[in-house]
Amino acid sequence: MSAERLEKRSTIDLRKKHIGPSCTLFFSRDPVKIVQAKGQYMYDEKGQRYLDCINNVAHVGHCHPDVVKAGAQQMELLNTNSRFLHDNLVLYAQRLQATLPDRLSVCYFVNSGQRPGAATGRQYTGHKDIITLENAYHGHISSLIDISPYKFHQLSGAEQNQFVHVAPSPDVYRGKYRADHPDPATAYADEVKDIIDRVHEKGGKIAAFIAESLQSCGGQVIPPVGYFQQVAEHVRKAGGVFIADEVQVGFGRVGTSFWAFQLQGEDFVPDIVTMGKPIGNGHPMSCVVTSKEVAQAFMASGMEYFNTFGGNPVSCAIGLAVLDVIMKEDLQGNSLRVGRYLTNLLEKLKEKHLLVGDVRGRGLFVGVELVRDRSKLTPATAEALEVIYKLKEEHIILSADGPHRNVLKFKPPMCFTTKDADLVVEKIDHILTGTSYFPISLCSVVLAFCFVHHLKESRCVMTDLSHVIVSVSRT
Ligand SMILES: Cc1ncc(COP(=O)(O)O)c(C=O)c1O
Repeated sequence: MSAERLEKRSTIDLRKKHIGPSCTLFFSRDPVKIVQAKGQYMYDEKGQRYLDCINNVAHVGHCHPDVVKAGAQQMELLNTNSRFLHDNLVLYAQRLQATLPDRLSVCYFVNSGQRPGAATGRQYTGHKDIITLENAYHGHISSLIDISPYKFHQLSGAEQNQFVHVAPSPDVYRGKYRADHPDPATAYADEVKDIIDRVHEKGGKIAAFIAESLQSCGGQVIPPVGYFQQVAEHVRKAGGVFIADEVQVGFGRVGTSFWAFQLQGEDFVPDIVTMGKPIGNGHPMSCVVTSKEVAQAFMASGMEYFNTFGGNPVSCAIGLAVLDVIMKEDLQGNSLRVGRYLTNLLEKLKEKHLLVGDVRGRGLFVGVELVRDRSKLTPATAEALEVIYKLKEEHIILSADGPHRNVLKFKPPMCFTTKDADLVVEKIDHILTGTSYFPISLCSVVLAFCFVHHLKESRCVMTDLSHVIVSVSRT
């Protein structure tokens, strides 16, 4: 079945004409047109299959039939807003709550982009100052850009909001305190405490600390265990709340737990959790969950909270189906098993290729940081881009992210298999071999040549060759 309605050229032309130029494409030099998808595979207009290693939105697999059916059935019956009583809304809230610690029991449903997490924090505390992390991304409306260094640094002439404070990313590979530090969790948490002290000195008051439970756009960063507990203690002592952004990493992706903040330990419970992307498997829905106390304070502000689409019966039917599929197909278990398998394969790549500086991940959330020099950690940005483009030629979709765009970022649909992992790692191995082993294979050819044509000539050829190797390794 062809789902293409226009020739690719016309699609590109119409897009240029009618779609805002700041909406960029993946692979802008030669964009991919996807017309159909199933499971972890996407198909272009010619029926070519691509392995999808990046779409964490299609959490339970692209177009999962149970999810599609649940949405279509409810759509045929009714869709309206949350001002009418409807069972789907309360049943979904109940099911979602069952995956969370007891204290997080009150839901606000949203569709996309306008999660009231930070606003709720400000309302609850009556304070204004928010602490966010370096390289963080939390969304695209202006209040969220303010707390997203990943974005506001892109704005020319942008000034950081005076109520927003940026703490170092708890990155133990490239950050301020690394794996060789005796206690990076405390060192990074103390940085947050220092910010709080400075805010207090200036007469400010902390409303919230916000962080992704594992930073994604920030470079697949895994904070040291104990960091969140200590930050939460400092922030709560200052009267603020802890907001965990689970938009990219929630719903079982990390394998050992349903929520990524739980990687920090059972003793850690955020005050507010924001959810999105995987929650609707492609259907636009999102949610903020908090405690009764925070919700009460939000209510006491006197402002009614409503948005047109949040919590509608179709979205909630879809949300329920997503949770059912995660359970029925043991996708959290799959994420753990396949994630470990993938990480092990990538670790072997690290042993083989100097360019692979670090492999880090939990479940099917994995980052591979490419560096030109393992001691200086010089980011291999161009090489990462080359890997991405060459993988595309092999019909595999992967992306590179992080502040230096040198971290290969795996976050595939959770039905990803060990066979898929074998394929993508084999292709990366091949690409890296082609790049870094070029001088060595050239070397062996020249040596063979020298052997045949006497050692006398070999000396001068070897000198030339060393220049070739140096210049190749520098480009
Ligand atoms: C961590 C994180 N938080 C929030 C958002 C914003 O979500 P949305 O695009 O649905 O508004 C994103 C989007 O990429 C995200 O990655």
